[in-house]
Amino acid sequence: MARLLVTGGAGFIGVNFVHHWLAAHPGQRVVVLDALTYAGNLKSLEPVRGRPELRFEHGNICDTERVAALLREERLDTIVHFAAESHVDRSIHGPDAFVETNVVGTHALLKAARTVWIKEQGTAAHRFHHVSTDEVYGSLEADDPAFHERTPYAPSSPYSASKAASDHLVRAYHCTFGLNVTTSNCSNNYGPYHFPEKLIPLMIVNILEGRALPVYGDGRNVRDWLHVTDHCRGIELILARGSPGEVYNIGGGQECANIDLVRTLCGIVDQRLAADGGLRERFPACPAARGERCESLITFVADRPGHDRRYAIDCGKIERALGYRARLALDAGLRQTFDWYVSNEPWWRTVLDGSYQSWIQTHYSPVATPASGVARTTGPS
Ligand code: NAD
Ligand code: DAU
Repeated sequence: MARLLVTGGAGFIGVNFVHHWLAAHPGQRVVVLDALTYAGNLKSLEPVRGRPELRFEHGNICDTERVAALLREERLDTIVHFAAESHVDRSIHGPDAFVETNVVGTHALLKAARTVWIKEQGTAAHRFHHVSTDEVYGSLEADDPAFHERTPYAPSSPYSASKAASDHLVRAYHCTFGLNVTTSNCSNNYGPYHFPEKLIPLMIVNILEGRALPVYGDGRNVRDWLHVTDHCRGIELILARGSPGEVYNIGGGQECANIDLVRTLCGIVDQRLAADGGLRERFPACPAARGERCESLITFVADRPGHDRRYAIDCGKIERALGYRARLALDAGLRQTFDWYVSNEPWWRTVLDGSYQSWIQTHYSPVATPASGVARTTGPS
């Protein structure tokens, strides 16, 4: 029976992991530690609110003492580390937060884990799983082979450079201090609870609202898309059977150029609204509500500086070693994701319009402010 600390468990992938874990492992303790930045939303934890296994702690991973206290108090033996600043465009406009959370924060967590699990408890029965990205490997040309676990690191953005630094620290804590670590480097995720600043949810929301669909550069940059539940299953397998010190790439083998992806989404919305008068009434600004094609919203805009051309993941290692297989094909996953956003309109309207902060105030009352300056809370009122 594992007892988990899930950092960043109110963000996109973290919250999907918490939902998945609680469904698959009922009765196992899960403590979520999240600073609730703009990207973290307690509303995403609503479906599991009230589960006795779940505890939410509002706090910062940079607070080593707080993390160490949680590990002791809850007798946690596993950390699944999702917390990060995750958006490449934001890292271009303001890199500092990326270094602070992704590098300093990861190091603070590693220090807490080493203190409690190795120095105090002297136990090998622990695991620090670090959730990282394929972006650490840099950019591929059209004919290059996919990234594998021994591809040299060549990060292009402050985001990917900060994730690369954190990967190295995790490895160093294994080699130097004997911390039982595993790392996964995953490709682009999509699915429910994805903040609408990333490509797929941004496009879905803009199509429904009849707003321009900004495609960077020539739109031919390629990403390797993976449904978030397949990523969560990969992490679950690594926790169960992964070897200490090992790195596993996780991907979907579903490469797609951005412009093709956006056109596919437009086609899905055209079809869905053509078949459903209720949707046409709910989203009157969507071109498909007037029988027009959503592709008319596509607008090519200036390219992202340092924009990686192509990502592709070779996930042969996790397939061979752990029996991993991605299950959800991209087209089916996009349809499911579109339907989720249509069914969860209050979620995306709330996280976008800023009323989320006032929602937090009414549901969570600050009870203390530790040295790090991040308010802690007891949980939903
Ligand atoms: P996200 O931005 O949606 O969520 C990040 C979460 O971390 C939020 O809940 C936020 O409040 C929390 N957080 C941020 N700073 C914190 C801090 N200092 N202390 C505590 N909590 C903090 O990110 P995501 O897309 O869910 O990504 C999760 C992890 O997976 C990241 O490490 C990211 O690098 C990695 N990853 C993401 C993708 C992807 O496609 N989204 C792919 C591969 C790897
Ligand atoms: O590869 C894994 C990474 O995938 C994760 O580590 C990151 O956390 C995650 O944000 C994602 O990074 P990308 O930069 O690939 O994702 P994003 O959704 O920002 O962009 C996907 C592609 O779409 C990229 O080529 C840029 C392009 N794009 C993005 C936006 C937001 C556009 O053309 N227009 C847009 O408005």
